[in-house]
Amino acid sequence: MDFIDVITKRRSIRKYKPDMVSDEDIEYILECARLAPSWANSQCWKFIVVKDQKVKENLASAGNSWIANAPVIIVACADPSKPGTKGDQPYYMLDIGIAMEHLILAAADRGLGTCWIGAFDESVAKKALGVPDNIRVVASTPLGYPDESPAQRPRKALKDIMSIDKY
Ligand SMILES: Cc1cc2nc3c(=O)[nH]c(=O)nc-3n(C[C@H](O)[C@H](O)[C@H](O)COP(=O)(O)O)c2cc1C
Repeated sequence: MDFIDVITKRRSIRKYKPDMVSDEDIEYILECARLAPSWANSQCWKFIVVKDQKVKENLASAGNSWIANAPVIIVACADPSKPGTKGDQPYYMLDIGIAMEHLILAAADRGLGTCWIGAFDESVAKKALGVPDNIRVVASTPLGYPDESPAQRPRKALKDIMSIDKY
């Protein structure tokens, strides 16, 4: 697919077919995440691929319980000590955001559905996955073949989000 087609066709998918995703597809999308840029190339991330139903359910109990119905959940963790901070802005969040977007677009390129999950109880997610105290669970996404075709969600017009030379 052309790059613009991947971006245009991607949707947040919240209903999945039970069909398992191939290891080759999982490796492809994680490879795309691996190549993401990061603060001083610190690559603070680790991605957990969750396939076990019980682990998925424990993770889903942290929030967005419907994600347990997807065949795979990918969880993005960060070591916050690795990237720098700009004032009060911790850059590990941004680094994970970039890597997650690589991952999500790569999945869309393979016809796979995803949905950014940011709203969850981190302590429940950490317990479900055995994540060490010093590591943050930043985001996750279900991964699988879409069982719905949502219309494109609205976006602001370009004229409303850009300006030239000053704010
Ligand atoms: C940082 C971030 C966190 C999000 N967290 C959730 C979430 O916890 N649960 C959920 O169902 N969708 C979540 N979403 C998906 C958004 O609701 C969705 O991207 C937005 O409504 C636009 O729809 P689209 O992705 O289909 O274009 C999140 C998206 C982003 C970027």
